[in-house]
Amino acid sequence: MSDVTDVLKEYSKDIIKTIEENLAVIEPEELQESSIYLTRAGGKMLRPSLALISSQAVGGNKEDALNTAAAIELIHTFSLIHDDIMDDDDMRRGMPAVHKVWDNSLAILAGDTLFSKAFEMIISSKDNNAEPKRVADALAVVADACVKICEGQASDIGFEGDFDVSQEAYSNMIYKKTGALIAAATKAGAIMGGADDEQVHALYEYGRMIGTAFQIQDDYLDVAAEAEDLGRPLGSDIAKGKMTLMVVKALAEADESDRARLVEILEDENSSQDDVDEAIDLFNKYGSIEYAHNVALENINGAKEVLEILPDSEAKQQLIDIADFVLERKS
Ligand code: IPE
Ligand code: IPE
Ligand code: MG
Ligand code: MG
Ligand code: MG
Repeated sequence: MSDVTDVLKEYSKDIIKTIEENLAVIEPEELQESSIYLTRAGGKMLRPSLALISSQAVGGNKEDALNTAAAIELIHTFSLIHDDIMDDDDMRRGMPAVHKVWDNSLAILAGDTLFSKAFEMIISSKDNNAEPKRVADALAVVADACVKICEGQASDIGFEGDFDVSQEAYSNMIYKKTGALIAAATKAGAIMGGADDEQVHALYEYGRMIGTAFQIQDDYLDVAAEAEDLGRPLGSDIAKGKMTLMVVKALAEADESDRARLVEILEDENSSQDDVDEAIDLFNKYGSIEYAHNVALENINGAKEVLEILPDSEAKQQLIDIADFVLERKS
């Protein structure tokens, strides 16, 4: 697993450099600073690395996909900055969130700046002699993911306090808010690397499935990680009454009094650590943590299966290792 961390670190260097170069022209200074801040705070760089690896897995090279990869990390960062405003979370990547260091206005603008720069960067792939058709296709893929993120985030907010959300509605919500961008990373990377239609489709499916597992694991880490690894306090989702697969399953399985108690904890905006622990006990009592883990695992296995059509290569092996890493990660 540490191997995957090393692989991501290695790819991060070019990505961070590309982002820094592209944001250096932003003014005034506080907008530039707030836009670059989270990249410097250090994320895992999973999505852009996936784009670079996907390009290589279909016979392209890293450079073909570099601008698109960096752009996808900017879209991710934009979504995190706005997400922390929406979720009222104060910490991100072990640092105070952008809306805490500056304010909501600047955080909204920093997010908008990153969003816009991302598209500019994909278009500028043409300067590196990228084929115009590939650039246009990558743009369409990323734009589609952005719409889905907004749809998914709107459902996520809409589901707060709704205790009748079905597993299907939950799955659709996490596909849109998280799976779609990870799938866009692998699909756009494949397109920039010159993949054929079958490879593009396989890499989209791979991204969609690891993305689904990724959000289920993210929800699990919110209740069960070490706060230090996570870079922020635990239990934020329970305090907000967020719908997670663990909650959906526990609500569906629990007897009347346990269900009522879980709803009470989810409705209480000031849940204490004891409340969070009690919710976790209820998740365990109704097997919902194990259930969520199994759904995530099925997605990881499915993701690895769709890769079988790709020729063997170091990049393909990295994709397989990343699929496993999604459920092994601690942050
Ligand atoms: C966090 O994503 C947001 C989700 C979609 C769950 P990551 O866990 O990839 O965040 P960073 O980029 O490593 O900080
Ligand atoms: C994913 O959901 C958010 C985005 C699509 C940006 P979360 O709200 O669970 O992400 P974290 O846990 O704050 O990183
Ligand atoms: Mg959040
Ligand atoms: Mg959120
Ligand atoms: Mg979360």
